[in-house]
Amino acid sequence: MKMIQLLPEVAAFLDAAQGLRIDGEQIATSETISVENPSDCSILAQVACANAGHVDQAVSAARQALTGPWASLTPHDRGQLLWKLADAIEERKDVFGQLDALDNGKPFAHARDVDAVWSARHFRYFAGWPSKIQGATIPVSTPDRFNFTRIEPVGVCGIITPWNYPTLMVAWKLAPALAAGNTIVLKPAEQTPLSALYLADLAHEVGFPKGVLNVIPGYGRDAGAALAAHHGVDKVGFTGSTETGRRIVEASAGNLKKVSLELGGKAANILFDDADLSKAIPGAFWALFGNNGQSCTAGARLYVHRSKMDEVLDGLQELANGLSIGPGMAQDAHALGPVISEPQMTKVLGYIESGRADGGEIVAGGARQGNSGYFVQPTVIAGVRDDMAVAREEIFGPVLCVLPFDDEDDVLARANDTVYGLAAGCWTQDISRANRMAAGLKAGTIWINCWGDTDAASPFGGMGQSGYGREMGPDALALYTQTKSVWQG
Ligand code: NAI
Ligand code: MG
Repeated sequence: MKMIQLLPEVAAFLDAAQGLRIDGEQIATSETISVENPSDCSILAQVACANAGHVDQAVSAARQALTGPWASLTPHDRGQLLWKLADAIEERKDVFGQLDALDNGKPFAHARDVDAVWSARHFRYFAGWPSKIQGATIPVSTPDRFNFTRIEPVGVCGIITPWNYPTLMVAWKLAPALAAGNTIVLKPAEQTPLSALYLADLAHEVGFPKGVLNVIPGYGRDAGAALAAHHGVDKVGFTGSTETGRRIVEASAGNLKKVSLELGGKAANILFDDADLSKAIPGAFWALFGNNGQSCTAGARLYVHRSKMDEVLDGLQELANGLSIGPGMAQDAHALGPVISEPQMTKVLGYIESGRADGGEIVAGGARQGNSGYFVQPTVIAGVRDDMAVAREEIFGPVLCVLPFDDEDDVLARANDTVYGLAAGCWTQDISRANRMAAGLKAGTIWINCWGDTDAASPFGGMGQSGYGREMGPDALALYTQTKSVWQG
């Protein structure tokens, strides 16, 4: 199979020693992370691996930078820096695309046009904010007093990100945090640290003062846990599993740092009998298989009105069987890459087996594909019941569960019967029903006759055990600022 040629810049990046990025310097570590290419199980690079001592070092650098040149930048100049970083990401979108395609395995075009380009847009949206973060004058009832508020940065932000959208998840958090004037210690996922390190270099290149953005790859149990517990960290922004989110909340208790969490999901997607099937079938298909099912918003539980079940299953089967899967860097573009790692593949295949054992019918896929790389066939399981593990637990892979329903009230109750609440949606041409669903579904994002849309301007986050806090839009600034009330007599 022909592969896309590595850009010279990417080849050089993979060959170079990749230290931690702390205070504008590269720091080598004795332990390293072997970064794997999940498309062929080869080792791409060795990168530095932070321990608790390095976390201390990075937190001190970030704390010092809070009162350095960064603090005296005008809002205009802070916005300019964010804008320059956005331009730099867009100019190097092919480099980001290749780095993410290599260590994540997703198709290069997807990594470039989704992860990199949307990250640039995200920085541009927040580049406009520094000059608009403003307090208020308050009409207090005490005579001879003047009261106003200042909106200030929280301080040092520990940012912990997952591997499913390596560049984009970093951008979602860094852009509002930097717009608000914070400093950062970023711990990217151990599986996908490459683009975060490259981003640190770009930030330095466009003029962010040293210590403002520190990037320390490392394992969750070591560097991640140390960052979450660190008393010098004022806030943790996290995206990842619900289980790890719980650990982070526990670890945050020592200094009561602020926490925002974007966690797992098990989104219900309801296909009513009045849906336009020409849109709903591919829509429901990609709601799950987009990014190979490795999205917290994946439409994992597809409820289909019983009268449309045969037609829908035929359509899903045809789409699944027609998908091409292959290496992230293959020259002929594939729709799906491998899943991220061997443990993740084992977990996904285990769920397929449990679905089969519990009485589900595999109508497409159902197995690993090939034996080099962690490829799993796009899998559709029909006849799923709400009490089955595949219907309740987050699989985070290319497995779509299809469940029949007969009645609107009943399906709404079933859709809401989950500990999660990140996203949900439905397909219907009845506007009253669409409005009932928008109000009745318990999730932070509702998609009606569409799926997966996000925008830097629109709030995104979870209810229930999908986390708390809203990223994007003005809500995101609230996560990275604090309000001070000032009285003058
Ligand atoms: P994870 O939630 O453990 O890892 C995400 C990030 O948290 C990584 O940077 C990791 O190093 C860090 N981390 C791990 N343990 C930590 C700790 N004790 N303290 C601080 N940081 C820690 O996810 P993992 O293990 O990669 O995947 C397991 C499952 O989690 C997946 O199968 C999937 O179901 C879910 N997941 C959900 C994501 C989402 O976007 N909602 C993203 C990644 C995974
Ligand atoms: Mg984990």
